[in-house]
Amino acid sequence: MAQVQLVGVSKRFGSTIAVQALDLDIADGEFFTLLGGSGCGKSTTLHLIAGLETPSSGHILFDSEEVTARSPRERNVAVVFQNYALYPHKTVAGNLAFPLLIGGRVPKAEIEAQVREMARLLRIEDLLERKPRELSGGQQQRVALGRALIRRPQVFLLDEPLSNLDARLRVTLRREIKTLHQAVRTTLIYVTHDQEEAMVLSDRIAVMHAGRVRQCGSPREIYHTPADLTVAELVGSPPLNCLDVEVREQRFALPGGGELAIPPAQAERFANLPRRMRLGIRPEHVQVTSSSGLGRGRVQQVEHLGKETYVFLECEEYGLTMRAAADCVLQPGQVVDWTWRWEHVLCFDPHDGRNLHYVSRSGVQGPKVSF
Ligand SMILES: Nc1ncnc2c1ncn2[C@@H]1O[C@H](COP(=O)(O)OP(=O)(O)OP(=O)(O)O)[C@@H](O)[C@H]1O
Ligand SMILES: [Mg+2]
Repeated sequence: MAQVQLVGVSKRFGSTIAVQALDLDIADGEFFTLLGGSGCGKSTTLHLIAGLETPSSGHILFDSEEVTARSPRERNVAVVFQNYALYPHKTVAGNLAFPLLIGGRVPKAEIEAQVREMARLLRIEDLLERKPRELSGGQQQRVALGRALIRRPQVFLLDEPLSNLDARLRVTLRREIKTLHQAVRTTLIYVTHDQEEAMVLSDRIAVMHAGRVRQCGSPREIYHTPADLTVAELVGSPPLNCLDVEVREQRFALPGGGELAIPPAQAERFANLPRRMRLGIRPEHVQVTSSSGLGRGRVQQVEHLGKETYVFLECEEYGLTMRAAADCVLQPGQVVDWTWRWEHVLCFDPHDGRNLHYVSRSGVQGPKVSF
């Protein structure tokens, strides 16, 4: 197990800057996730940590020791990619045993014991004699995870390991990955573009965009106190509602001419902010109300998911998504009053997207949002 640090790490491929000035400090035993859209630099970061790529500048340290120039083998890391890449002619047991056979130093009985232990952890004991082609995708990926973990790497690196699997299997296997991590406590760095996967698995998440880390924090911090609009829009489903407003006295002027009166209790939170802002509110903090609301909207669509309902409202020149209860009886075409929980309204700078209430760990910037 190891603490992993990246200090000012950049990587260029010709004129493409894949990652830029990355500073990461990943604790020993942590489940750490790199989350972001396609091409933001997640895999490159993982390859740099693995030693499969060399940084153009910066340093990589394991337990405070510089490893920047070391090969993957010298770093003692294990990587699992999206495609399972098992040895097709070997059985599951043969695949699991393979990393221990290299070097010929581990006694046969010891190898057999470790293969059995890993198969038990991954619940594939009854598959040990099968060949990869006789396994389902989920089973193959379990074997790939086991093969990577069996030689007890210092750092375990997973690059979108579940993205080839169907939705149900992804949920099952992600729980197994979490259980596996709790059992072995190896530092685990996980790459995904799936925000839900990142939220449920991680101790901390680094949200990446265009080669940079936009925010690094616990799932709760990322969700409730996003540093900027990019982060806020990337996490949460359905996505955050956004409204461009202009502040006038104690009111927000909305697109289409409507106005929202800021309640006196919230006045302080919205004081001293720019005249134009983009407000963000999560769908679970917007509600239909029977008394007079903040605004009025027409129900455009209702989606029943079983455990909850998503309602899409058309309001003057903006739209709002609401997350409602399972027994929601709204119908398309209905006109309703809506309100929101003011304390959950986020304020973003319309130019650079920064959360105007966000307080970074290193600096103080405006009042902190409390949840
Ligand atoms: N070997 C390479 N040569 C040239 N450009 C590369 C190379 N590897 C990555 N890039 C570029 O670097 C950027 C980051 O790529 P990377 O693979 O790290 O993204 P990613 O976040 O893993 O994306 P995805 O979610 O699609 O896998 C992209 O613009 C990509 O085209
Ligand atoms: Mg990738």
